[in-house]
Amino acid sequence: MMVRSIILAAGRGTRMRSQLPKALHMLAGKPLVQYSIDTVKAIKLEQPILVVGYQADMIRKVIGNQVDYVHQDQQLGTAHAVGCAESILKDKVDLILVLSADMPFLSMDTLLNLIGLQTKNSGPVTFATTIDANSRGFGRILRDKNGDIEAIVEEAQASPEQLAIPEINVGVYCIKTDWLWQALKRINKSPKGEYYLTDIIGLARKEGYKTPSILITDSTEAMGINTRVHLAEAEAILRQRINQQWMLNGVTIPDPNTTYIGAEVHLEPDTIILPNTHLIGKTIIGGGSVVGPNTVITDSDIGANCTVIASFLEKAVLEEGVAMGPYCHLRTGAHLGKGVHMGNFGEVKKSYLGPGTKMGHFSYIGDAQIGKDVNISAGVITCNFDGQNKNDTHIGDDAFIGSDTMLVAPVKIGDRAHTGAGAVVTKDVPDDTLVVGVPAHELRKLK
Ligand code: UD1
Ligand code: CA
Repeated sequence: MMVRSIILAAGRGTRMRSQLPKALHMLAGKPLVQYSIDTVKAIKLEQPILVVGYQADMIRKVIGNQVDYVHQDQQLGTAHAVGCAESILKDKVDLILVLSADMPFLSMDTLLNLIGLQTKNSGPVTFATTIDANSRGFGRILRDKNGDIEAIVEEAQASPEQLAIPEINVGVYCIKTDWLWQALKRINKSPKGEYYLTDIIGLARKEGYKTPSILITDSTEAMGINTRVHLAEAEAILRQRINQQWMLNGVTIPDPNTTYIGAEVHLEPDTIILPNTHLIGKTIIGGGSVVGPNTVITDSDIGANCTVIASFLEKAVLEEGVAMGPYCHLRTGAHLGKGVHMGNFGEVKKSYLGPGTKMGHFSYIGDAQIGKDVNISAGVITCNFDGQNKNDTHIGDDAFIGSDTMLVAPVKIGDRAHTGAGAVVTKDVPDDTLVVGVPAHELRKLK
């Protein structure tokens, strides 16, 4: 039996009050729609179909070729959105799983149960309900005297008695395609001018079919994100889950309430993440490292046994045993070798600092290759930009760069060379040579 999934993401998400489509709002560092895509992929169905419309290009750019796209030109409702997939799916699939881009907590089990139940169902559709006093605007489930489902009524159309019904529509369905396409054509426009997918339940019932449902007992799982308040609630739940998972995996987090770890971060056991720390994107932290407090690390690879205090790192690499902070700034392409020490107010961009190099206070290193055990004294700056081009600086092993040295790039400092305090180095310095002054000149050989 061929089963495919359709994820609805064409709506603007009016209640988000945003230029950004709802599907792309970020939840724990991932776009909302990515959660639905990941869950569908986890149950190993074929590539999901994503229905896009509002800001479709933006969504295509972010999601790329993880899905097949269908375009809904006008957002005429969830039934219409599903109908847009007819031309690419007709006769090719037996069952369709329909879900929305705004349901990040829906589990694999629920999807598998729905498919399982529908496979045994003689009727055309199986769906999920939950019981929650907080309706969040969900449709209400109408049942007859025997307890069988009759229809779903949308909140906007519900009578006061219907609004009091605690059983609500989760918004995930498994439907037989040979029935679906013609059923969609029989759905009438709602008073709000939309074609509601929820009407298929009433239609199936009128044709004499039963419309079985599964009850989701964990109301978090059924949570849909319609407003930014819901988004923040989801974020809190997810953050708590992520932090708990890492703690159970051997990471110490003294204050989980102020620790923000993205969904794609990886931490090795025995790391300590101190309060007010944000680990973002594809960041990796090696075992035994202590990060924070007050640190933001994005898309960086931190080795084992590092210390990072009150610093900002972006697309940086730290090898084992690096100690930095407080107040360091590593920008894209900063690569610090084993045991590097960086003190307060240092900035490094697109540069390699060799093992054991020390950079204690107030320095800027950009576009530089620096050897091992180099001493970079207070206030050293690579003057890497001449107003037009970025130029490189090379510093050899065991060099000593005196306080307040300006390295005017392109420039090369030899192995074991020294520069005096306040030197402005405009020419290459040979190995074992001391230069001083403005512009720097050779004072003597050191060997
Ligand atoms: C929908 C259900 C409701 C259910 C709730 C659960 C309908 C009519 N109502 O309401 O019964 O309780 O989900 O979360 O289905 N979309 C399109 N094209 C459109 C309209 C919507 O692709 O023309 C997409 C949206 O981008 C969204 C999804 O469909 O991802 C659901 O739309 P939304 O407006 O959030 O529906 P709800 O009001 O939440
Ligand atoms: Ca919704």
